[in-house]
Amino acid sequence: MASQEGNDGFVVFDRVQKSYDGETLVVKDLNLSIGKGEFLTMLGPSGSGKTTCLMMLAGFETATHGDILLGGQPINNIPPHKRGIGMVFQNYALFPHMSVGENLSFPLEVRKIGKSDREEKVKRALDMVQMGDFINRRPAQLSGGQQQRIALARALVFEPELVLMDEPLGALDKQLREHMQFEITRLAHDLGITTVYVTHDQTEALTMSDRVAVFDDGRIQQLDPPDVLYEEPKNSFVAQFIGENNTLEGVVKEITGDTCVIQLDDGEVIDAKPVNVSEVGQRTQVSIRPERVEYNSERLQKGAHTLKAEVLEFIYMGDIFRTRLRVAGNEDFIIKTRNAPDQVKLKPGEQIEIGWLPEDCRALD
Ligand SMILES: Nc1ncnc2c1ncn2[C@@H]1O[C@H](COP(=O)(O)OP(=O)(O)OP(=O)(O)O)[C@@H](O)[C@H]1O
Ligand SMILES: [Mg+2]
Repeated sequence: MASQEGNDGFVVFDRVQKSYDGETLVVKDLNLSIGKGEFLTMLGPSGSGKTTCLMMLAGFETATHGDILLGGQPINNIPPHKRGIGMVFQNYALFPHMSVGENLSFPLEVRKIGKSDREEKVKRALDMVQMGDFINRRPAQLSGGQQQRIALARALVFEPELVLMDEPLGALDKQLREHMQFEITRLAHDLGITTVYVTHDQTEALTMSDRVAVFDDGRIQQLDPPDVLYEEPKNSFVAQFIGENNTLEGVVKEITGDTCVIQLDDGEVIDAKPVNVSEVGQRTQVSIRPERVEYNSERLQKGAHTLKAEVLEFIYMGDIFRTRLRVAGNEDFIIKTRNAPDQVKLKPGEQIEIGWLPEDCRALD
């Protein structure tokens, strides 16, 4: 589109607010710029405003305040058939009176694509979702997961510039889900499709996306690539929501550059990285990932603070060991270790010392 500036900003939410009832804001001051060809995921708890954002972007709901731009133009000024948006909704409604083949052919007919081209594209889209044999069935003759796959194929069949997907894999079993995650990202990247994807499955968000926007209560809490989101959560909400996480509460005793000393509520001291703390005396919640906790004293840095821990439970999970500890009064402190020939299997009742690198332990709000 002509008025597009550079590569970022193919889709722009500019100070967008949304209220359905004129009182409560379900989307509060949303600013978001999505680059052309980018795969962006909106991740957040139920009711946090994800579907509402997609509906506004699709032009089915209007923003109460602010603007939504597509290719530099306000979405409401672009007629629906010129928007070139493929959509998969949370309730994947297919046309019930049409066969699977007709459902997929429809968006191509609207775009005046010739018959033989249509047949080829429909076949390819059906093969992608492993539904090639179902071309003559009606939606009512399909299972929920099969309908979901047809809805997905229908959204992609006309190779749209922008695809909006709202929990498109929710009804699929684990294996098919992982296969489709791979297929969707591959297709989106191969065709250069810009994708806005909604899920509340964090693994899905981390594995599929270029960037993830973590939503809570109508606001983006953090917007970052998956590795940054996981390794550098900006606040406790994000740390808790993405991946498994241990928290300990305490007070800041000392801050020196990019490390700080925290006195936990039971009196013990630990090293951490000051993220949201700036003053001695401040209360904080520190956050540490289970796979970053070390209990082999030889592998700890010299002079690092350690904590006493009691082993409460050892769970064998095949590829990893998951051990639950009591640490500073917290009985749900989890550590994860790789199943390797030389790995120690901790036993319930054992007393150990644990520690970590200061940069792996984040002092948050
Ligand atoms: N048409 C509507 N009229 C009034 N309120 C609505 C409407 N649609 C959604 N809401 C409210 O807006 C808030 C955000 O809803 P939304 O559907 O955007 O959440 P979501 O993040 O998609 O949640 P989920 O993960 O459960 O799908 C919720 O509190 C919801 O009750
Ligand atoms: Mg929703």
